[in-house]
Amino acid sequence: MRGRGTHLTIIAILIMTAMATLFVGCPPPAEDDGGGAAGAGGGDGGAAASSASIEEGVYGDSEAGIPIGAYFGLTGPNADFGQDSAKAIVLALEEMGAADWNGGPSFQLILQDDRCKAEDVGPILNKLIQEDQVVAVVGEVASGLSLIGGPICQEHGVPMVSPSSTNPEVTQKGEYVFRTCFTDRQQGYACAKFAFENLETRRAAILYPSDNDYSVGLAKYFEEAFVDLGGEVIESQGWGKDQQDFGAELLRVKTQDPDVLFVPCYYDDAGQFASQARKNGLDMPIVGGDGWDSPDVYNIGEEATNNCYFANHYSKQDESPVVQSFVEQYTERWGEAPSAMAATAYDGIRIVVEAIHSVDDPTDRAAIRDALAATSGFEGVTGTITINEDRNAVKPAVILELQGGEQVLVDTVEAPDLS
Ligand code: PHE
Repeated sequence: MRGRGTHLTIIAILIMTAMATLFVGCPPPAEDDGGGAAGAGGGDGGAAASSASIEEGVYGDSEAGIPIGAYFGLTGPNADFGQDSAKAIVLALEEMGAADWNGGPSFQLILQDDRCKAEDVGPILNKLIQEDQVVAVVGEVASGLSLIGGPICQEHGVPMVSPSSTNPEVTQKGEYVFRTCFTDRQQGYACAKFAFENLETRRAAILYPSDNDYSVGLAKYFEEAFVDLGGEVIESQGWGKDQQDFGAELLRVKTQDPDVLFVPCYYDDAGQFASQARKNGLDMPIVGGDGWDSPDVYNIGEEATNNCYFANHYSKQDESPVVQSFVEQYTERWGEAPSAMAATAYDGIRIVVEAIHSVDDPTDRAAIRDALAATSGFEGVTGTITINEDRNAVKPAVILELQGGEQVLVDTVEAPDLS
């Protein structure tokens, strides 16, 4: 499978070379089963019938382009995250490659698939840094994987920009590690405020996968904020690795009569959780974080996902021209509307390219780092991005309600600067 992808990529590169500096040539949609390769856990992933998928390889000007690395899970249990991010990055580079960059350098994107596995991150980053000599790295989505990648990039003095890892510790790994999204302190606050003020709930129970750094952090930050607002957290309970049956936890929580459940898991568990909660007679609102952003939540949970809400980075219903033009371009390019992962990655890569374009020597990683740190007022599709002194972006979160699988924008929560 890998071999086939490589051939497709080589063909794509030949086409690209012919088209000079334009960013064209991602491989055509993979017609294989898309997911058989690395299906570790992750429930019945067969449902993920996305229209086109993207594979690892070299994109762009592979001859003379400045090398930028990217690592994402393009296969594996949370492959939607990586797929959507990589597609948006390729789109952004195609658009920027076609634009007039005042004679600035062209780029090559070296995209690697970490299969959503912790053990893949080190070898991939070492290859990108030492063999490919990348000047910057974009990735990961999942906080647990960015927490592994960050220290490696830091050690080698290579700027790493996670477009969407929200766990606060990610950027605490050192001055070379950035994110262009909000943190889980901000997101936890947004969820708590929405639950307390808009849903008018007072007694929360929190259930989350205890092997996921993102979930553990977000559970904690939600609790702090909810209690601060005057609410009560009657239970906060982790579930085990690969657990698919939440019956015991749900029954115990039910006896305590909460009026809201906060469930900061990823989308591959969210639909299953909602479905089991409703079957056990828990009909109260369920609130989640950005990990819920996938059609799979509804595909698995169906009508059980009504009365569910989650925080996110942007809404495609946002009528601003920047968002609408992105939604249009992405949909035209990839045959599906962009998720929040796509939106955050689109902003992340454009910030990286802008930083590289602003320095005298585009291979000077320290100068690129400084340029990233100076990012201010960047008009992204996920809002205006200014990198603060902790290398985080401070932005509002949107709250989306699932209504028959539709993600309906119901609130925007301005976050205080909590980093
Ligand atoms: N914020 C999540 C994490 O840090 C990942 C994520 C990003 C989920 C974007 C959905 C959308 O692990």
